[in-house]
Amino acid sequence: MTQLRIEFHPAHQVSAELEHKIEALDHLAFAGENHDDPEFASIEWGSPDWMVLGFLGGELVSQLCLHKREITVGPQRIWVAGVGGVATHPNWLRRGFASQVLRASEVFMRNELKVPFGLLVCADETQPVYARCAWQTVAKSLIFTQNDQHRTLETRVMILSLSGEPWPGGEINLRGLPW
Ligand SMILES: CC(C)(COP(=O)(O)OP(=O)(O)OC[C@H]1O[C@@H](n2cnc3c(N)ncnc32)[C@H](O)[C@@H]1OP(=O)(O)O)[C@@H](O)C(=O)NCCC(=O)NCCS
Repeated sequence: MTQLRIEFHPAHQVSAELEHKIEALDHLAFAGENHDDPEFASIEWGSPDWMVLGFLGGELVSQLCLHKREITVGPQRIWVAGVGGVATHPNWLRRGFASQVLRASEVFMRNELKVPFGLLVCADETQPVYARCAWQTVAKSLIFTQNDQHRTLETRVMILSLSGEPWPGGEINLRGLPW
């Protein structure tokens, strides 16, 4: 299998040149997304803390972003690493590149971010990508806050246990913008 060179960058330190590449890949990967649902289209997405970038030679081929956030699950406060913007360049799909970036991120979330869980939301169609990397579905919706308003996002919610702790169960509240 072709190994990517995977880099972790604090999001606020990404150079303008790299930012341009990240935006271009994001745009290409999500170009076909259909946001007819006005509820979904009005969502503001949170700013990430880290970018995880997978390069093949000099080319950025796969990426995701990470958000460190203290959320609530039922009555409990829990730190999570939120995974968002998972994208592989259309020319490089189904070569295991998103999986490589996810697995490298797992190590980073555990050892550097030191959080007990990863958390992401995804469409039912892309669920297999994450299930293959040991992510588990725990809910069909979550709460987030936008402009001081609590809103519900109906979506598949998946978690990755990084410390062996079981997911507590209960309503998930991101206490801020989603990712
Ligand atoms: C989803 C996406 C990131 C997958 O990237 P990728 O590099 O092709 O993924 P991988 O090669 O690591 O896939 C690993 C496994 O996940 C599954 N998988 C991959 N893409 C899939 C898809 N689009 N739908 C369903 N399962 C998929 C397959 O089982 C695959 O293994 P296989 O190729 O041996 O069958 C890529 O298709 C993409 O950028 N899509 C557009 C943006 C998007 O929807 N991102 C996800 C947001 S939640």
